[in-house]
Amino acid sequence: MNTAIEGFSRLTKEEKIDWLTKNYTKNPESSKNVLAQYWNTEPKVQRLHDEFIENTVTNYYLPFGIAPNFLINSKLYAIPMAIEESSVVAAASKAAKFWLEKGGFQAQVLGMEKIGQVHFIHKGNSQSLEKFFSYVKPKLISAVRPITQNMEGRGGGITHIALKDKTKVMENYYQLHCTFQTLDAMGANFINSCLEEFARVFKAEAQAFSSFTKNEKEIDVVMSILSNYVPNCLVKAEVSCPIEALETGESIAPLEFAEKMLQAVEIARIEPHRAVTHNKGIMNGVDAVVLATGNDFRAIEAGVHAYASRNGQYTSLTYATIEKGVFKFWIEIPLALGTVGGLTNLHPLVKLSLEILQNPSAKELMEIVAVAGLAQNFAALRSLVTTGIQQGHMKMHLMNILNQIGADDEEKKVLIDYFKTRTVTHGAVKEALERLKK
Ligand code: MEV
Repeated sequence: MNTAIEGFSRLTKEEKIDWLTKNYTKNPESSKNVLAQYWNTEPKVQRLHDEFIENTVTNYYLPFGIAPNFLINSKLYAIPMAIEESSVVAAASKAAKFWLEKGGFQAQVLGMEKIGQVHFIHKGNSQSLEKFFSYVKPKLISAVRPITQNMEGRGGGITHIALKDKTKVMENYYQLHCTFQTLDAMGANFINSCLEEFARVFKAEAQAFSSFTKNEKEIDVVMSILSNYVPNCLVKAEVSCPIEALETGESIAPLEFAEKMLQAVEIARIEPHRAVTHNKGIMNGVDAVVLATGNDFRAIEAGVHAYASRNGQYTSLTYATIEKGVFKFWIEIPLALGTVGGLTNLHPLVKLSLEILQNPSAKELMEIVAVAGLAQNFAALRSLVTTGIQQGHMKMHLMNILNQIGADDEEKKVLIDYFKTRTVTHGAVKEALERLKK
């Protein structure tokens, strides 16, 4: 049985690895080799990664791929994607090419509002609290001026502070519901710093507010934190073309294809089981770009799925119509992204990703990421309503199987060719390799 350890974070990296591999792996020497294999040979780069988090023992690689040919608002992009799933980059590239010939993607940011809240308990009269709020609001704003003045200088800052009475849903519970514009920053640190200062001043000023009774002077702050639900930090991306241009290369007529796409979207709209998978496919594209550009994909995931349930039922994030012979397909998602701050200046690959994307503003990055999600959904639905998903998936997965069963380069070449016209299964690939080796 393993025993707990005191002071793990104070051990050197080597000591941590010794302890870890000795206590938790069957073969410490080979485990150490696996960890060492992923160290960066450049000490400066390795130190940077060591210091991103606590207790780093190695780096965890993901493939970093490029999906070229994305025409977005008449600008051509090669989109960097960090993802492990075999078919995602190929699908994105295919969708980009398909729409490139039809005028590309149009994208538009509808709003960039961020949200943060101070959650507190106040046992007293809510009218007195409102009076206090009107009195203290200007003091809250001036108290955070040292934090906000740079942001304000660039056109951002706090846009609104409201007192929300939540006592109907929880006894004595209120919020300061605050909205912000954080420009090119995702803004988490900015928002949380403002909120913590609001909370401090709010609590202190309550003590001195003469209209409060002794009890009412006590503001019990539970927490101050941004919200990852940002329904007004919204971006829309769309594609459209005359139906007859929807030639897929498969044996399906353009009109039938368009109608099936509409049915697929409608099923995702009305049926939560399908909606979750439909949106998962969208997030294949979204997360890959979010990760490559050093943004927080957990925040994005949480916000996007909350948005997909905003009307009480989890539903599709994409929409499709056929009107007057034109097929239109679009997405609307909340994306709180940054192109400054956070990892953007620190991680060399993130910096390079942003350079590849021609150093976008946060607004442009929102558009690019929404397009990546839309393209991914288009590619998935296109396969689903025509050939089925497995044909493309297993083709891409073939390389994983070949690596798993130890095929060498020459064998890989032969077998990739062989499986161009055959169904890929783990068993079939294994058998084919055995036959080849004989
Ligand atoms: C797989 O990662 C994503 C799909 O399941 C998405 C979808 O079904 O729309 C193919």
